[in-house]
Amino acid sequence: DGRRRHRIAVIAGDGIGKEVMPEALRVLSAAQQKFDLPLELVPIDWASCDYYAEHGQMMPDDWKQQLQGVDAILFGAVGWPATVPDHISLWGSLLKFRREFDQYINLRPVRLFEGVPCPLAGRKPGDIDFLVVRENTEGEYTNLGGVMYAGTDREIVLQETVMSRFGADRVLKFAFEQAAARPRQKLDVATKSNGIAISMPWWDGRADAMAQHYPQIAVEKHHIDILAARFVLQPQRFDVVVASNLFGDILSDLGPACTGTIGLAPSANLNPERTFPSLFEPVHGSAPDIYGQGIANPVAMIWSAALMLQFLGEQAAHDAMLHAIEHVLAHGPRTRDLGGLANTAEMGAAIAALV
Ligand code: NAI
Ligand code: MG
Repeated sequence: DGRRRHRIAVIAGDGIGKEVMPEALRVLSAAQQKFDLPLELVPIDWASCDYYAEHGQMMPDDWKQQLQGVDAILFGAVGWPATVPDHISLWGSLLKFRREFDQYINLRPVRLFEGVPCPLAGRKPGDIDFLVVRENTEGEYTNLGGVMYAGTDREIVLQETVMSRFGADRVLKFAFEQAAARPRQKLDVATKSNGIAISMPWWDGRADAMAQHYPQIAVEKHHIDILAARFVLQPQRFDVVVASNLFGDILSDLGPACTGTIGLAPSANLNPERTFPSLFEPVHGSAPDIYGQGIANPVAMIWSAALMLQFLGEQAAHDAMLHAIEHVLAHGPRTRDLGGLANTAEMGAAIAALV
């Protein structure tokens, strides 16, 4: 039908990644039938600790060439600390994707669903529905610095924050565009210009400059400390929140934590220009403590797949998957982390059937 095909690399990874990925593929397959999606799946068995056990490295040397041509990477989880130290498994796979594919946006939706107990008192579905947009390539997370006079009384350590006009402007622009596409027309900016008195006032200035292009958007800046408190006390006031790498890292865990189980939270690592593939993955890891029991909640993985379809321009399929997730969270079957008795496959099958 002339539509461009979507080539998707599928990497289940480790632990419950191997249990939730089949459910995401089941729901994708239902969406593919319903909406006639031009999907081509490329299964990949590396970027896992099983691969490491056999090859002594997480990925083949030509991993970048193998993935360069795909439109997106659907990723389960990586990590099996019993056999491979976490810094090796993480830096040998996921962090390479983020950096070498310039996935400069980390996007996390935060929503409170019907049927999911909220850890914040008195909140009902609809009260919490916002996006955290985190800068994913620079800022506070650099390898610039070092230790001097190690092991002596004069020992000093220095680690630099790096913010560039290029890097700040592109994440701010993305956040303003997200805000402009949503009904509330509101953007909240994380800062700490009172304490981090050079880079953060500069960041605020970049936000002010970008705001000139979006006069319809109401912009509010918050110091990160009170912003964290407001996530808990007044989550309903947020719609899109943009933050530097470190602040965004913290907020993008705090946000989903305010809406219940980690088994629901999805994330997208985006290269919006599509020069490189973007990566979609649940926030949770490989959960060795429950792996093998078939009880992992598949929603975070399925929602991540829905975000992928949205990014690829398949909005209707995304919406159908989200509605199916909403319905199953409200009416069951639910996994144990949600107080239910269903296993992973039962919950995944119920979502697929609704799609
Ligand atoms: P984790 O997210 O794997 O598990 C934390 C807790 O949440 C566990 O009690 C687990 O049973 C529970 N949980 C997680 N996902 C769940 C789901 N879908 N349904 C029900 N319960 C769920 O984090 P942890 O234990 O700190 O890390 C385990 C491994 O995963 C480590 O190797 C770590 O490095 C890796 N990891 C990988 C990530 C990734 O691939 N992006 C992210 C976080 C951790
Ligand atoms: Mg984090």
